[in-house]
Amino acid sequence: MKDRQNIHGSWASRWVFIMAATGSAVGLGNIWKFPYIAGQNGGGAFVLVYLLFILAVGVPIMMAEVLVGRRGRQSPINSMREVAMEAGHAPGWSVVGWVGALAGFLIFSFYSVVAGWVLAYVAAMGNGEFLDIGSEQASKVFSRLLADPQALLIWHSVFVVLVMTVLMGGVNKGLERATKIMMPALFVLLLLLLGYSMTSGSFGEGLEFLFHFDPSELSWDAVLVALGHSFFTLSLGMGSIMAYGSYMPKNASIGGTVLTIAALDTIVALVAGMAIFPIVFANSLDPGAGPGLMFITLPVAFGHMPGGQVFGFLFFVLVALAAWTSAISLMEPGVAWMVERFGLKRGPVCIMLGMVVWLLGIAALSSFNFGSDIALFGMNIFDFLDFITANVFLPLGGLFVAVFTGWILNKKITGNELAIANPLYYLAWSVMIRYIAPIAVAAIFIFNLIEKLG
Ligand code: PFF
Repeated sequence: MKDRQNIHGSWASRWVFIMAATGSAVGLGNIWKFPYIAGQNGGGAFVLVYLLFILAVGVPIMMAEVLVGRRGRQSPINSMREVAMEAGHAPGWSVVGWVGALAGFLIFSFYSVVAGWVLAYVAAMGNGEFLDIGSEQASKVFSRLLADPQALLIWHSVFVVLVMTVLMGGVNKGLERATKIMMPALFVLLLLLLGYSMTSGSFGEGLEFLFHFDPSELSWDAVLVALGHSFFTLSLGMGSIMAYGSYMPKNASIGGTVLTIAALDTIVALVAGMAIFPIVFANSLDPGAGPGLMFITLPVAFGHMPGGQVFGFLFFVLVALAAWTSAISLMEPGVAWMVERFGLKRGPVCIMLGMVVWLLGIAALSSFNFGSDIALFGMNIFDFLDFITANVFLPLGGLFVAVFTGWILNKKITGNELAIANPLYYLAWSVMIRYIAPIAVAAIFIFNLIEKLG
């Protein structure tokens, strides 16, 4: 088959793809969300289940997404249709791409609010507001920020503009270079934080919390959250990785590439957890504190370490950059589709879509102040958006991608794209994508439903 060309461009090499996809995967999910949901779900057993999902469900599905994207060479919506038709099936599979693009918008709306908190902390760190601060004061600073819709709106708007500006220029220019410097720098600063928490006196307690294993603490709810987070953190189930895969060079091997991305993502999350929990215990904070966890613990840590103002400032800058490269990938499927469908330039498309997510973001940020009374299924808007996307949309999107590549596409297409030399590895992938991943996702949904109804 002749190789299709992508009208949006393509990555210069396999390494550039790895960097871009890692830029998408590593974000607020790793540094903000993973520690706080691990904290809410009791640590240890939750972390182990999460790691299992990354390996047995996330990795094979990420390979599947890259495969479909590279085969289709278009936005996820059009790639799904194109590849389904190539395999002799109904074009209606594009629905998976549609639902994914919608999920991207919904995720963006609360993601941008949290990224706004990060930007506010960049400014506060720069001003030295956290020097020698105690945990009580740090909690107050955070609550004050949440109660101030104007401040939240400003930072959320700044973030939307930042993301849309890069998207307008196309992902090739600038972004690749930025990720190359940013990812190693983020890692170095995380290690520095880790060094601080090792001296905090509660390092052992932090590790014990993250890695002890007591299955009796696990509920089906927690298993669903772990599953949902494995999709969220790897940017799966909504087309981001499929879109990035459509720009991947033909000759690069998918398996090794995907394993590298998943490993980098996992390491960043674990290191973030190991940096945060010792500080939680050393300051008698509550590990189950929720979304504010990172915003309360880290200022305390930076406020007490030598040079903390500079390091703290740099750290939040890097978290902002990590959020930025992830948010770009949230919008790329929608942007690419609009360009393909209507023949528009990226500029006007980004302005239009930017306005939509900006408005949605206002609904999300109101959850902490003027809209705090609005409840959807017992959650505020922010929590509802987070819950419905990570725990429903992404696992279902992933389930459909697994069924599509495992059962609908033939071996000629999947074998040809994956190009795995060792037949045993190919067999392993097909068992995981046909049986393990879909059964795991379906079973967890069913058990959760039974538990809720029962
Ligand atoms: N993976 C990103 C993170 O962990 O912060 C968030 C994300 C990006 C989720 C892109 C989904 C997505 F499609």
